[in-house]
Amino acid sequence: MTIKKEELLLRVNLLFMVILAIDTSCDETSAAVVAGRRVLANVIYSQILLHHQWGGVVPSIAKKAHEEKIDYVINEVLDRFKRNNKGKAKIDAVAVTQGPGLAVALEVGIKKAKELAKKYSLRLISVNHLEGHLYSPFVQNRQGNPNRAFSFPYLSLIVSGGHTELVIFQDHLKYKVIGSTLDDAAGEALDKAGKLLGLGYPAGPVIEKLAIKVKNKDYYHFPRPMINSEDLNFSFSGLKTAFYYFLKKMPEEQRIKNISFLASSFQEAVFETLVKKTAKAIETTGIKKITLVGGVAANLYLKKKFRELARKYQGEVLFPSFKYLSGDNAAMIGVAASFKAKNNFFVENLDSLDRIPRMKL
Ligand code: KG4
Ligand code: ZN
Repeated sequence: MTIKKEELLLRVNLLFMVILAIDTSCDETSAAVVAGRRVLANVIYSQILLHHQWGGVVPSIAKKAHEEKIDYVINEVLDRFKRNNKGKAKIDAVAVTQGPGLAVALEVGIKKAKELAKKYSLRLISVNHLEGHLYSPFVQNRQGNPNRAFSFPYLSLIVSGGHTELVIFQDHLKYKVIGSTLDDAAGEALDKAGKLLGLGYPAGPVIEKLAIKVKNKDYYHFPRPMINSEDLNFSFSGLKTAFYYFLKKMPEEQRIKNISFLASSFQEAVFETLVKKTAKAIETTGIKKITLVGGVAANLYLKKKFRELARKYQGEVLFPSFKYLSGDNAAMIGVAASFKAKNNFFVENLDSLDRIPRMKL
């Protein structure tokens, strides 16, 4: 008897716990259904338009939007899962981001996850948001693609709006942070520079486009704080201040005329720092398998630089398996949760689970 492809997929799904994952750590309300590394359904409601004019995420607006959208996002993802799964929609566990993130935003997801776990007697898994980003290159679609095997250890660089961290991803659920930003995160620096240029929030993708117009030229050569320091830490606030005073001295019409060169030069200062510190980390640890994850990893120019870096050291680099996995999403949270479930890491006492806004890896 031949088994139809859809039937086979269904059987694979039955091998794993089917997890409903929720992420409300910042400005995306997201829910996903995963089985092992496979994403069976994923929904992301982005609040970008609500924060755009303010040049950054406004906590009170984020909280309200999460509260308004969470039920819709969860119902929608369950509907899609059911449609994709021949009408069967049994969920075995709930997973939720516990931190790091915006306290008032995290709270919304945690409250909902507890509510669902209690109502339907489901096990609950708490996940560190950064853990989710680290698993993002290994997340698969419904068909099980890409079929990447794990080959630990990895040297991972997390670059997002809230984080810039160099991590040794030693094994499943085992991480060692070897470098962090001392002040602003890489994405935050891009967003702040973009705000000074009047580009709105988030500025990273706009800066990327402006820089492409001038072939990513480093015209102004802004400072790269700590680029040659002995450690693996980052600092971007000095660059931001230098950029601020540079713009202040520049007449308005010059600023408008040269906006692409300004954006490109700022981006280059950030990216060169990321590449140099990662090179230093490769030399210190001897690990040549790199992963680049987080919102800034959506940048094609940065990806190119990391491919070159990997080639230079005869290593390899992995990026989030699909573009939607670089930004915030519940799919990566669900996949990290699958590995926690496999190791029996469940929340023991539902009532005691609380958000940890500054949660470490
Ligand atoms: O991972 P993410 O969605 O949220 C956090 O956990 O912070 O990252 C958002 C950050 C923002 O700073 C945004 O400007 C940046 O990622 N970003 C980009 C690009 N797309 C998003 N930065 C550079 N180039 C991009 N294409
Ligand atoms: Zn994130």
